[in-house]
Amino acid sequence: MSKQSYAVTIAGGGSTYTPGVVLMLIADREKFPINRICLYDNDAKRQETIARACEIYVRENAPEVKFEYTTDPETAFTGIDFVLAQIRVGKYEMRDKDEKIPLKYGVLGQETCGPGGIAYGLRSIGGVLEILDYMEKYSPNAWMLNYSNPAAIVAEATRRLRPSSKIINICDMPIALMDIMANMCGLHDHKDLVYGYYGLNHFGWWWKVEDKAGHDLMPTIKEHMAKNGYASENADMQFIDASWDATFRKAKDVYAVDPNTIPNTYLKYYLYSDYVVAHTDPKHTRTDEVREGREKNVFGTARQIIEKGTAEGFGLKADEHSEYIVDLAMALAENTHERFMLIVPNHGAVENFDPTAMVEIPCIVGSDGYEKICQGTIPQFQKGMMEQQVSVEKLAVSAWIDHSYQELWQALTLSKTVPSASVAKQILDDLIEANKDFWPELH
Ligand code: NAD
Ligand code: G6P
Ligand code: MN
Repeated sequence: MSKQSYAVTIAGGGSTYTPGVVLMLIADREKFPINRICLYDNDAKRQETIARACEIYVRENAPEVKFEYTTDPETAFTGIDFVLAQIRVGKYEMRDKDEKIPLKYGVLGQETCGPGGIAYGLRSIGGVLEILDYMEKYSPNAWMLNYSNPAAIVAEATRRLRPSSKIINICDMPIALMDIMANMCGLHDHKDLVYGYYGLNHFGWWWKVEDKAGHDLMPTIKEHMAKNGYASENADMQFIDASWDATFRKAKDVYAVDPNTIPNTYLKYYLYSDYVVAHTDPKHTRTDEVREGREKNVFGTARQIIEKGTAEGFGLKADEHSEYIVDLAMALAENTHERFMLIVPNHGAVENFDPTAMVEIPCIVGSDGYEKICQGTIPQFQKGMMEQQVSVEKLAVSAWIDHSYQELWQALTLSKTVPSASVAKQILDDLIEANKDFWPELH
């Protein structure tokens, strides 16, 4: 695709992550040149606050970059090279229900795991497909980098329903965790590591971590995990909220279940769901924490920038967690052949696992897309857990396609977080009522 410069549209322009992505695009334009940034959202009012602040920042720091925001798909998706998608269908109002409804029945409530993740999945599929279709209609050669959650369910839906589309699904959790691992080993960040990993999104394990010279770093990382999990004095700033701190500490117990591998933090929701429920206030869940923290800060700063008419003096700096998105776009545009953890169709990359599963594994990315790195055969424990979880995700997508109550009940019943078919049914009936503006009508 190598061009002189690129046009990027951010879908979900009103997202709390948008300023971080815009700042990173501006900061990185030496290595990834851009000529246009367009924000697109279907909520004009929410987007406007973020967009007007970003507009001021871009004007002050990169006046040569054209900045626009719109709710019109044709304007947003015409003449572009990349879509960075970060939509939340139903917004925090619905995330709140995803988290609180299961808790009424003693089942964990989480954005991407268990019944909450399934509910969110059935809202996200249509939204992400709509954006993909706009992109293909107005800019058929563009790439969509999707990190709208729940990425596992969205990825399975796009595999089934848009198999030839130029979409790559990604997650920042493995990168954040590898930054912590690098730190444990006295290295700078994830780019200093060579790794082996297999799993589903928010559901995987590292089996190999080495430095660039081929030294095995697993013994150092294991020692740290056994003592502290991912907790460390230099813990990453994005994760300073109390709930993330608890998750990093709990990784110690997750690691103990299989000390041969290093687990993703999200496995805590499956392996210690009773503990998670016991330590959750059913009236104050992660959504409340995000609204009182990240959302309030991001929108508060944006309003102040608009009021003052300048972004100077706010100490704004590019969000490191947006770096991987820009790096991935650059790898596709400029054929860098860098290693990325992506969510891709298995087809033998994990040898003894469903070839039709969307697995999260390391890949090499260049201008033709990605090449998967085979991860060999996986142990019985991980295989068993992944078979169960991939079935949950596949049944959820089938339920959306077939409008099937039965398949959705099976998906919930099969989730390791749900104790029985009867509890699954009660939660499902509540979720159907709460999601009637978003889900297909189930029969
Ligand atoms: P947010 O609610 O602040 O922003 C989402 C935006 O999407 C809102 O402005 C909303 O109006 C918009 N939107 C909803 N439906 C839309 C549609 N159909 N078309 C266009 N716009 C639409 O949410 P947030 O907390 O900033 O998170 C944004 C998304 O990024 C979520 O899906 C979140 O889970 C995801 N995320 C993923 C990763 C990852 O690792 N994959 C990391 C961070 C965030
Ligand atoms: C991690 C996950 C994302 C998730 C994000 C924010 O980075 O990989 O998938 O969306 O955390 O979660 P939060 O609870 O802060 O909105
Ligand atoms: Mn993620």
